[in-house]
Amino acid sequence: FVTMSWMIATKAARGADGTDDRPKDVVAAAIVDDGRVLLAQRAHPAELAGKWELPGGRVESGETHAQALSREIREELGAEIEVGARIGAQVMLPNRLVLHAYRARLRSGTPAALEHLDVQWFSADELRLLDLDDVVPADRDWIPELCAILDDA
Ligand code: C5P
Repeated sequence: FVTMSWMIATKAARGADGTDDRPKDVVAAAIVDDGRVLLAQRAHPAELAGKWELPGGRVESGETHAQALSREIREELGAEIEVGARIGAQVMLPNRLVLHAYRARLRSGTPAALEHLDVQWFSADELRLLDLDDVVPADRDWIPELCAILDDA
């Protein structure tokens, strides 16, 4: 019965063309250090290029959110982080992606824009001055909570 249920569940998760249409998780890190949060400026795709985001990426099968986030930050910024509590609500993205954000602290390394246009540390006041048009749409709702976290930091 367990195998049957699994087969049905697996089959239901495949589209008619055999593609996997189950939701996929994307994780993003609010790395906080010395009262500021790190934002990264996207290089692609064209419609998001130049906009600031919490850095992160897709969770691969078999990974926990924390493992995926640590891997993405290592790949994208060349730094090691410790992943903390979840922040904000999850955000539904196009293409069945679900975005989750977590607080994080730097363990080692200096974040660098290895795959982004730039990285920059923002204080709460700087975040409040940031034009929302310059922020990736999915990340905009997190700004007030990020300001509150920095105000407390
Ligand atoms: O960075 P990457 O392209 O792997 O992200 C996968 C998807 O998640 C993209 O559609 C991207 O726009 C979205 N994303 C987001 N906000 C983030 C990180 C990723 O909207 N902070």
